[in-house]
Amino acid sequence: MVSYRLNEIIELCGSAKRIADVGCDHGKVLGELAKKGAKYLVATDISEPSVRKAGELLNKLNFKKFDVRVGNGCETLSEKDKLDMIVIAGMGGLEIIEILKKSPIELTNLVLQPQNNVVKLREYLVENNFRIIVDKVVEDKQKFYNILKVKKSDKKYELSAREIQYGKSNLKGYNPHFVLMLMEENEKLAARQVNVTNENIKNKMINTIIKNNKEIERANSRR
Ligand SMILES: C[S@@+](CC[C@H](N)C(=O)[O-])C[C@H]1O[C@@H](n2cnc3c(N)ncnc32)[C@H](O)[C@@H]1O
Repeated sequence: MVSYRLNEIIELCGSAKRIADVGCDHGKVLGELAKKGAKYLVATDISEPSVRKAGELLNKLNFKKFDVRVGNGCETLSEKDKLDMIVIAGMGGLEIIEILKKSPIELTNLVLQPQNNVVKLREYLVENNFRIIVDKVVEDKQKFYNILKVKKSDKKYELSAREIQYGKSNLKGYNPHFVLMLMEENEKLAARQVNVTNENIKNKMINTIIKNNKEIERANSRR
């Protein structure tokens, strides 16, 4: 059994069959993808013990068609891998941007799960013609995660300011995890702003609370 977060990442890989997990660590995502009928997997991580763990897991599952590589980001990948999906999860948003920038291969389909700086990551993706197909919040053991599925597009692509701020899938239908995340953020902001003396910063915090409350109301009205 993998965690709810990892399960969502695996689900978003959809029907992809040739998949790399960049920053694979334990290799649990690859293990599940192997069980789900993947044809070829690449376990890559900057840490040698991590790729070793991932390799051991795939061997234990008797999955044969995989490669393990130690190195920075996508720099270990090659066009010859013919990947139809790359997962980059559990790293900072800025680190993910750096990894995407330095990729030696053309990036087409990605599942990304930044630990922070999701707004900056969305801005980078839009500026670089990555179409965001899914962008949703999931809660796992009382922590909130943004998970994005993106596809390279040859056309210019735009998102509204609201979509950049909150993630487009969260603004459609009713995602209880998104509402809970905003409620938690508002609670923290409300507690912190009491001690803030700088008027500008205080006003920014209060504006964020107001905007978040509006999104909570909108989400509840879509229930
Ligand atoms: C918090 S773990 C996340 C593991 C797994 N992807 C997940 O989501 O559960 C981050 C992993 O990314 C690896 N990592 C960090 N920076 C990296 C980079 N620039 N290139 C490749 N791997 C990196 C770390 O060694 C670590 O194994």
